[in-house]
Amino acid sequence: MFPAHRPRRLRTTPAMRRLVAETTVRPRQLVLPMFVKEGAETPVEIASMPGVVQHTRESLRKAAVEAVQAGVGGIMLFGVPSTRDAVGSGATDPDGILNVALRDLRSELGDSTVLMSDCCLDEFTDHGHCGVLTPTGEVDNDATLEVYGEMAVAQARAGAHVVGPSGMMDGQIGFIRAALDEAGLTDTGILAYAVKYASALYGPFRDAIESALQGDRKTYQQDPANAREALREVELDLAEGADMVMVKPAGPYLDVLASVAQVSTVPVAAYQISGEYAMVEAAARNGWIERERTVLETLTSIRRAGADIVLTYWAVEAARWLDRE
Ligand code: PBG
Repeated sequence: MFPAHRPRRLRTTPAMRRLVAETTVRPRQLVLPMFVKEGAETPVEIASMPGVVQHTRESLRKAAVEAVQAGVGGIMLFGVPSTRDAVGSGATDPDGILNVALRDLRSELGDSTVLMSDCCLDEFTDHGHCGVLTPTGEVDNDATLEVYGEMAVAQARAGAHVVGPSGMMDGQIGFIRAALDEAGLTDTGILAYAVKYASALYGPFRDAIESALQGDRKTYQQDPANAREALREVELDLAEGADMVMVKPAGPYLDVLASVAQVSTVPVAAYQISGEYAMVEAAARNGWIERERTVLETLTSIRRAGADIVLTYWAVEAARWLDRE
């Protein structure tokens, strides 16, 4: 009898497919990135990210509570300040929008979720770079580390359980770990954006934070052509004390994610970024793809490639879909 082997047997019924599925996506594995805008009186829609808003302090609290009730594993918070300067003073100021909102959320949610904060300067600088600049306009790695250290301490004091350094400065994890420890904040974790590519897909995010960036981040973020250096970045961040490592973007870098997942000795996260979100939303709005199926397929693929944790703007909606299953 031909064919002797019939793999289709394991696909015959929904029950059979459920039994043999290798990969699951659970709400607790999803982290919701959120934006809070200083001085906003009503939530502001982000044109290039339909369905995502810049929150007011009040709407942020409410949406965060709903996210936790939906079962998401954590929240990653970004601030949109009303004024910016060359050194990103709003980032280290305890009264800066991100720190104020962290205090709001920690008092509202306590330890019922994992509260994370973006530890990077681009939201706060008037030039839009992730660090401070030298007199000739280059990003000054070591001077930036000093600011990151202060920023991490301010965020931890404001209530972040985990800080997320996303600026791709060399030595940032070790420097931040030392700054937290010196301040007695030994329980505050670090989610290292270990592998972060200079991607065109951050475009919508830059609308979300009203970034002033001219030019690009190619001197500090990685070249999309390179896979090997991702492992070097991970190795360094682990040696410097990262509690979790992240690969970003997610979908176009699943090969990199899979190889990081093989060598990492800490949990691995992947960030499904603004452009990945916008592409699916745009196609779905045109009726060109099925929205829910596409979203769940992308999340399953990111998990299958090896991510323990997925940062996604669909976290709450996906959590509700998954709970229904
Ligand atoms: C930097 C940062 C960026 C994102 C998260 N943290 C933007 C960048 O590096 O330009 C992008 C997230 C997204 O696109 O959804 N603070």
